[in-house]
Amino acid sequence: MAFDINMIKKVYAGMDEKIKTARALLNRPLTLTEKILYSHLADEFPAKPFERGKSYVNFAPDRVAMQDATAQMALLQFMQAGKDKVAVPSTVHADHLIQAKVGANDDLKTAEVTNKEVYDFLSSVCNKYGLGFWKPGAGIIHQVVLENYAFPGGMMIGTDSHTPNAGGLGMIAVGVGGADAVDVMAGMPWEVKFPKLIGVKLTGKLNGWTAPKDIILKVAGLLTVKGGTGYILEYFGEGAQSLSATGKGTIGNMGAEIGATTSTFGFDDAMVRYFRATKRDDVAEAALEVKEHLTGDPEAYADPEKYFDQVIEINLSELEPHLNGPFTPDLATPISKVREVAKENGWPTKVEFGLIGSCTNSSYEDISRAASIAKQAVDKGLKVKSEFTVTPGSEQVRFTIERDGYIDLFEKMGGRVFANACGPCIGMWAREGADKQEKNTIVHSFNRNFAKRADGNPNTHAFVASPELVTAIAISGELGFNPLTDTLKNDKGEEIKLEPPTGYELPPKGFDVKDAGYQEPAKDGTGVEVVVKPDSKRLQLLTPFEPWDGKNITGAKLLIKAAGKCTTDHISMAGPWLRFRGHLDNISDNMLIGAINAFNQESNKVKNQLNGKYGKVPDVQREYKAQNIPTVVVGDHNYGEGSSREHAAMEPRHLGVKVVLVKSFARIHETNLKKQGMLALTFEDENDYDKIQEDDVFNFTDLEAFAPDKPVTIEVEHADGTKDTIKALHTYNDQQIGWYKAGSALNLIAAKNA
Ligand code: F3S
Repeated sequence: MAFDINMIKKVYAGMDEKIKTARALLNRPLTLTEKILYSHLADEFPAKPFERGKSYVNFAPDRVAMQDATAQMALLQFMQAGKDKVAVPSTVHADHLIQAKVGANDDLKTAEVTNKEVYDFLSSVCNKYGLGFWKPGAGIIHQVVLENYAFPGGMMIGTDSHTPNAGGLGMIAVGVGGADAVDVMAGMPWEVKFPKLIGVKLTGKLNGWTAPKDIILKVAGLLTVKGGTGYILEYFGEGAQSLSATGKGTIGNMGAEIGATTSTFGFDDAMVRYFRATKRDDVAEAALEVKEHLTGDPEAYADPEKYFDQVIEINLSELEPHLNGPFTPDLATPISKVREVAKENGWPTKVEFGLIGSCTNSSYEDISRAASIAKQAVDKGLKVKSEFTVTPGSEQVRFTIERDGYIDLFEKMGGRVFANACGPCIGMWAREGADKQEKNTIVHSFNRNFAKRADGNPNTHAFVASPELVTAIAISGELGFNPLTDTLKNDKGEEIKLEPPTGYELPPKGFDVKDAGYQEPAKDGTGVEVVVKPDSKRLQLLTPFEPWDGKNITGAKLLIKAAGKCTTDHISMAGPWLRFRGHLDNISDNMLIGAINAFNQESNKVKNQLNGKYGKVPDVQREYKAQNIPTVVVGDHNYGEGSSREHAAMEPRHLGVKVVLVKSFARIHETNLKKQGMLALTFEDENDYDKIQEDDVFNFTDLEAFAPDKPVTIEVEHADGTKDTIKALHTYNDQQIGWYKAGSALNLIAAKNA
């Protein structure tokens, strides 16, 4: 099953009616984003239009995609939902756990050994519950989705922040946490705030050295890493239509770098060409039949200021190639200025590595254009100064570029090909000498360039550019090299000027692949056994959380009063803990170890009220748990901001914390706590935070009457025998109180399915 055309036809069949209703409701022309959002409502149409940036809306996505790092906990949870099959077409992609070291074949073999139990689990759970599984080596999630599943006007969620790559084919594709994926796979709606809209009008046409990557590098420079937060970017105009579908994918992909919810493009001929090349003529035909619904209304694009919250205009004919970095993808420098800016900032200008590919830039077009530069180096006797690597985004691309001689060309130039996986883009790169932490520069065509991301060295200055520019810079070995104006000396001492790149939007001989690496799930998975070794360190089957006993919580001890910022990284750290993402008990050993204890200003050092000694947060909590003593975590403002990882809510729940009481919550974390059956409360009077002391004991005196909009009364007993009675607020509605009573949202779903 590459894709489900009937599902796509069903989406299109309902669009006409829904878009008409939405147009009548809003009483004006619609943008593409609005058309897709209003045609994916999970509930009835509202009586009045949703307010952008304010209203929370339930949507019904068409697909779910997950990568192997995030899929583990999502699927362990899904297994508890009591469903035989996922409710919407879903796929898992084994791409994040392969380390790049020697080259594609060896590295893949090593990964298959080191990650065997994780792959066996993912393969078996997909087989059982009807998910497609893309095996290690098949490719990177976003490239595989683009080649097989993305379709104009569709809605998808994916447990990876670069899911918006599918916006290149006109989808609304959003990166989410595992908990959201579980909901949708279990048949529940996906709730999100109705986004605001930025219209990006592209005029003119790219030429010479400029590439689609330069458009998003420019946009990142204009909007900065936070500028897109809460927004969907909708690209339109003749310039947008002149871009290839994969070029649009690159732009959508890197919208994540400005914090955008997602980015999208209207359906056009480039998409038709891409569907036909990837053997999906039926998607092209189906889309052509409803094409007026798959782009914004002409009036909306004619007067964008009226229909978008913000408008940006870029003339592609005048755009210059850019190099963004170091350490942040929004520090945009046009290539003609790089030499000067590098000098001012003391950036090392010797380039050690040029790396092309990744989910962002490994299309046939990208590779063929980069190869045209490589060919010039080989033909004209230019010695390549930097090391050079290629990370293909999928086996289909890798097979095709090998057939067409490009891999050979890169190897002749001295390059190496890594596995079709994330590799250096996510720090899965055993770069020799990186541990020496020397100051150095690399240039790549990936999307993120935060400190340490590629090789773990905080002093690696990573710059992002188009694959063709990365190739030229790698040949020159110099960061400031401007191929538009500069020349290079070849082995005969001649001055060589590189010609601008040329390439093919799509392979002239078509795509080809021998084994794409796809595992189709069993038609009837009921007999399939999910493989998890009982002594595994990396995977652990979940047991349902206990339901609420209906009684007041009394005698709860304070575990920690966290001071200041407490993000999901403070609550459940990433880095080395990533390997335990599928093992709740093991990963719980990182619970709150980054939070600052308000009483001693130290992290991971809290008082154990049972013996007065100080210990690590998870250790102290495990002692309370062993004695069945409930505990409370107290926090400051915006508690749980950051990522949507559900581990930050599951760990305290697993270790026996009963209540999180804070000044305010980051909303996604608050919802995650509710879903896991925790009590998430806020101080009615923020000043009560100051009343909480280190040896406090909490009694929740009217929890038995837990009801929507009804504050909770807490009696706080201090060590000196005094007491404070405080009020706490909550935002639980009836359904969410149902989750709390059942022990978790999943328990409730499971009970309904029983
Ligand atoms: Fe993988 Fe990097 Fe893309 S981690 S999914 S190649 S952003």
